[in-house]
Order: sequence, then structure tokens, then C-alpha cells
Amino acid sequence: MALEVIILAAGKGKRMHSDLPKVLHKVANKPMLEHVIDSAKVLNPSAIHVVVGHMAQKVEQMVQSLDEATKALITISLQQEQLGTGHAVNCALDKVKDDSEVLVLYGDTPLTPVELLDDLVKSLQDKELCVLTANAQNPFGYGRIVRNAKGNLDCIVEEKDATDEQRKITEVNTGMLVARASVLKEYLPKLKNNNSQGEYYLTDLSGMLAKEGKDVLIKVAPDFEILSGVNSKPQLAFVERLYQRRAAQKLMENGVTLADPNRFDLRGTLTCGKDCFIDINCVFEGNVVLGDNVVIKAGCVIKDTSIGDDSVISPYSVFEDSIIKRKATIGPFARLRPGNVLEDEVHVGNFVECKKSHLGFGTKAGHLSYLGDAQIGRDVNIGAGTITCNYDGANKYKTVIGDDVFIGSDSQLVAPVEVKDGVTVAAGTTVTKRTVHSAKDLILTRAQTVIVEKYERPHKIKK
Ligand code: UD1
Ligand code: CA
Repeated sequence: MALEVIILAAGKGKRMHSDLPKVLHKVANKPMLEHVIDSAKVLNPSAIHVVVGHMAQKVEQMVQSLDEATKALITISLQQEQLGTGHAVNCALDKVKDDSEVLVLYGDTPLTPVELLDDLVKSLQDKELCVLTANAQNPFGYGRIVRNAKGNLDCIVEEKDATDEQRKITEVNTGMLVARASVLKEYLPKLKNNNSQGEYYLTDLSGMLAKEGKDVLIKVAPDFEILSGVNSKPQLAFVERLYQRRAAQKLMENGVTLADPNRFDLRGTLTCGKDCFIDINCVFEGNVVLGDNVVIKAGCVIKDTSIGDDSVISPYSVFEDSIIKRKATIGPFARLRPGNVLEDEVHVGNFVECKKSHLGFGTKAGHLSYLGDAQIGRDVNIGAGTITCNYDGANKYKTVIGDDVFIGSDSQLVAPVEVKDGVTVAAGTTVTKRTVHSAKDLILTRAQTVIVEKYERPHKIKK
């Protein structure tokens, strides 16, 4: 039987106090709705219907930004007015086949484990409806599951409509359910909005079926936290930490040492070899790969970068879109902007910025340099304060430096320029195209040194 998924994403999210639609708020730098779509995809549904409404265009834009294969699965349904979750599901039903099974997910519940959703779908079997519940330590704000004497579902009552007695119930509605399309199509149009919020509640569906003597199945999830919905910024932060703790846990289980799993942030994917150590407050974004025995010290921000075996990255280094090979020592306070390749045993020290540069085996740039659009050979020493002047105000040019070159401190290399193998550039030199330099030359520009003997410093004039 075909499975179709409906994801509710039309609500405003009043409690977020934000101009951004709630489902676009991010967990691990990814919109909550995208998390839900990603989970839905794993179930291999024949279609995913996303119900949009509040700032529909913005939400659709996010959907349009997804990859082609995902987009091909998705249809968008518009809920003009946000009249409640039951009404929202109804808005997508005309696109759903009569004989499908339908899984309903909320766009504000981003961390639901796929295995649990799979179990939920399987538990429907030949029945009409199965709701996913969980036991919450603090059930405040959630719909409560009211069971009859036999323990079967009687109805779901929302916090705002519940009696004091019902509010004591700790079994809550997670919002997720699976049902036959035919049942949804028959019953949702019959929902009433005579409740405290004047909304057509999806949750009333269970009560309606129960009243007609139909078995409504209940699947109780083992863990409530992971099914937490996000209605407010504190809940968003809670879910973010939950995500991060799980990501940290997974890495540690695979052998990574984290100085403190509570001070670790992953916003993408991180693949680690053996015996890696990650100190506190590091952020990994995009796709990051670490080899074996890599040390990342405190406060580094690393995006779309691979780092080879036995490399040590010292504190507060920031990398983007670069390849670092083996036994590198980088930082503290190093910055790699996009497009660098650092060969084995390279050293890039404090306050060195590299962009689109290639540093050969064993090359060192220890302090305070800018290396942009530079092709640098092996065993080169880049002295403190060296700058590649790659930009003339209009265009960018390349600096090419051969093997075994020594660039003295405070030198400028005015690109386009080439410094051949073995050349020595004296401190304070401005190397330009016109400079003659071939192997083993010394290049030097020096203003003449003047010594004024017994020089008197100026004195303050007395008023
Ligand atoms: C809902 C459930 C509650 C459950 C909780 C779990 C209802 C009536 N209540 O409450 O029982 O415990 O989720 O997290 O279903 N939405 C629309 N259109 C609308 C209204 C909402 O698309 O007209 C979407 C929202 O964007 C959101 C989802 O539906 O993604 C849930 O709506 P929300 O208002 O957050 O419901 P809760 O009050 O959290
Ligand atoms: Ca919610």
C-alpha cells in the first residue's frame, strides 16, 4: 500500500515572536521543516504534501531550494486561513489517493527518529487510525490522551480545553499519527471548532472515531524529549541542545574524544578517523572530515574542510572550504578563507590569512601574513608580515613562489609576480614584476639608514 506524508507548516508560530514563519527557524542551522522532510523521505513515501499558509511564499522558497530528487516528491497545498491542524490536513487531502495510508507530521517537531515513524506506520496494519503518544514529565501545553476504563483511547483534549483533572494526565499527544486516507477524507470535513481556540483540531478526529466504536490505536513512544515540538524560543534552544547532545554522543561512541559534549556544535556532518580530540566550543559546519589523530583545540569554527592525519589546530582558528593534508600545525587565530590546499607538514601560525592558496610540503607562514591567490612551493619560509598584493583595485593576480624560498619579514609581493626556487627576499622588500630574480638571487630593497648622532628628542613647550 502506498504511503503519503502530510507535513503541517502553515502556522504563524505566534509564540516565537518573530517575523520568520516558525517552521523556518533552524535547528543545527537547518530549517525545522527541512529536518521533517528529510525524515519523511527515508520512509520512501509516494508523495510528501507540505501544507503552507502563513508567509507561504517564504516556506515554498525553502522547499524550492532543496535538491531535485526531494522536490520531485513534494507537492504544496495552501491553507489560506490558519483554522487549525484538522483544517490544515484537510487542505492537502484532495491531492492524496483514496487508498493510501497517510502519515501526518508537524513541521515544528524536527527530531523525531525515523525508526519510530516507521514503527508508527507499520502499526496501522488494517486499522483506521493510530496516534503516537508519549509520557511527559511536564505535559504542559500538549494535548492529553484521555483513555477509558479499558485503557482504550477516549479522546484527546488540548491544554486550553482540559479540566484540572485532565491536566494531570501525563500521557501527551505528540501530534504525529497515521491513518487511512479514506478515514481522513470522511471525518475531517465533519470537525467542529467549538473549543477555546475556535480551531478545527486534528486531535478531535480520534474522539470522533472512538465515539463511533472504532478502535483507535495508540503507539506509545519510549522517549518524549526527542518528540518535543517547538512553539517558543526556549523550546527551540532546548531542541537544539538535544540535537547537539545526540550528535556529540554518536561521535564519542565512535571513538572521538570531546572535552565537553555540552560545548560542541555540529551544523552539518562531521566524519572523524581514530583518536581525534575536540576541545570545547568548536563549531563544525557543512561537510567536515578529520583524519586519524587530529587535535582541534578550543573555539575553532570549521566549515567544509578536510584535515589530514596527525594535524593540530590551535585555538580560535576559522576555516572554510579548504584541504589540509597530514601533520599540519595551524593557529592559534589562523584564518583559511575558501580555496586553499595545504600540503603535508605545513605550518600556518597566528593572524595568518590564506585565500585560494597552495602551500607546498613543509612550508611555514608563522605570523601576521596575507597569502591570497598564491602558489607556494615546498620548504618555503614566509616571514612575519608578508603580504601578497593580489589586487590592484580592479583585478586579482597570482603570486608564484618556488621551492626553498626565504621571504624576509614585512615583504610585499606585488602580483603578478614570480619568485624562483631558492631565492632569498630580504626583510622589508617590495618584490615586483620588474625585479630580476632567478635561482639563488637575493632580492632586497632598502632605504638608506641615516644615523643622527646625539639626537635630542623634542621637549614639551611650557605655557
Ligand atoms: C499540537 C496538538 C497537540 C500536541 C502538540 C504536539 C492540535 C490541535 N494540537 O498543539 O495536541 O500535543 O501539537 O506538539 O493539533 N498548523 C497549520 N495550520 C493551522 C494550525 C497549525 O499548518 O491552522 C501547523 C503549525 O505550523 C505546526 C503544527 O501545525 O507546525 C502544530 O500546530 P501548533 O499550533 O504548534 O499546535 P500545538 O499547540 O503545538
Ligand atoms: Ca507545536
